[in-house]
Amino acid sequence: MKIKVRRPDDWHLHLRDGAILQAVAPFSAAVFARAIIMPNLVPPITTMAAALAYRRRILAALPPNATFQPLMTCYLTDDLSPDELRLGAERGVFVAAKLYPAGATTNSARGVSDVRKIWPVLEMMERIGLPLLVHGEVVDEDVDIFDREAVFIERELTPLLADFPALRVVLEHVSTQTAVEFVLAQDDRVAATITPHHLLLTRNDLLAGGVHPHLYCLPIVKGAKDRRALRTAATSGSPRFFLGSDSAPHPVRRKESARGRAGIFNSPVIMPWLAQAFEQEQALPNLEAFSSLHGPRFYGLPINEDFIQLERKEPDFPACVEIPGGNDCLRIFSPPEKLHWRVAAA
Ligand code: DOR
Ligand code: ZN
Repeated sequence: MKIKVRRPDDWHLHLRDGAILQAVAPFSAAVFARAIIMPNLVPPITTMAAALAYRRRILAALPPNATFQPLMTCYLTDDLSPDELRLGAERGVFVAAKLYPAGATTNSARGVSDVRKIWPVLEMMERIGLPLLVHGEVVDEDVDIFDREAVFIERELTPLLADFPALRVVLEHVSTQTAVEFVLAQDDRVAATITPHHLLLTRNDLLAGGVHPHLYCLPIVKGAKDRRALRTAATSGSPRFFLGSDSAPHPVRRKESARGRAGIFNSPVIMPWLAQAFEQEQALPNLEAFSSLHGPRFYGLPINEDFIQLERKEPDFPACVEIPGGNDCLRIFSPPEKLHWRVAAA
C-alpha cells in the first residue's frame, strides 16, 4: 500500500550546530520543505546576526540542490530588547520567538526567569502578530515532573493569555490530556505541536523493565490516558494541532550516562512513525492535515506544492547515525513496536 501526502513541514526541530548539524540536517531536508529551528544553542540565538549566521551554517550542511527552508526563531531572555526582535521579525529573519522557562530543559539556563520581565517583548509580539512558542513546563522543585505541564498551564499560561488577548501562541510538544483540552478551550490564536514520540510512547516504555534513556525527553512521556488524548487530537483533523517533531539529537554517550540528557532523535523516521500511529487510529486520511496543512495555516505561510509517498513496507535504516569526526553517534528513535512504514523513493 502507498499513500501520497503533500510535502510536510516540521514546526519544531533542533538541528544543533557543528558536526551534529552536519549529521542530522540532511534527514530533515530529505522529507520536509521547511522547519521551525529551535534556538537553544550555546550561546542561544538572541540576535538577528546570530540567527542569520546560524541559518547560513544550516544551509551549508544541506546536500547540493536541497530546497529545505530553515525558519529561524529567537530565544527569549530576561533582557532581550524588543527592538531587536521587532526588527528581526520585520526583516523576515525571525518567524517566531521561543519562551524557555529558565532551567526547564536542555540549554535553557539563559531562558526567562519570570514572564513579567519580558512584558514589553510580549506587548510588541502581540502588536505585530509574531507567534510565541512556549516550552510549557514549570521548573519548581516542588512540582512533580509528571505534573509540570499542567501546573504551567494553570499558573503561567492562563494568566499570560488573559494579559495578552491577541498574542498568538503555540504550546509546544503537548504531552497531556490537560494541555489538549486547554488548547481546544481557547480561540484559534492558540495552537499546539505534537511529537511522534508522544503519540507512540507511555512512561511504561520509558521506565518498565529498566530505564530506557533513548526514550527520555522533556516534557517526559506520560501515561496511557494522556497518550490517548494526544492521538485523538492529532488524528481529529482539528487545525489547532500540527506536527513538531522535537527531534533533539544528543550523542549516545551523553544519553547513556548517569545523568542522561533529555531529547529523542527522530528526524530520519518521523513520517513513517506518524503513518503507523495514524493507521492504528484508522485515520490515515487525516495525516496530511496534521503534517502538511495545519502548520502553514497557523503561521500564515503557503502550503507546499509537491508531495511525498509513504509505503507500507519494512523500512531499512541504521540504528545509529555517525557524528563526523566525533567518535560517537546519534541513536535513531526506536520505540518497542516494529515499524511497518517508510518514505518511498521519489
Ligand atoms: O527532550 C527535549 N530535548 N526537550 C526539550 O525541550 C529540549 C530538547 C533538547 O534541546 O535537547
Ligand atoms: Zn524542543
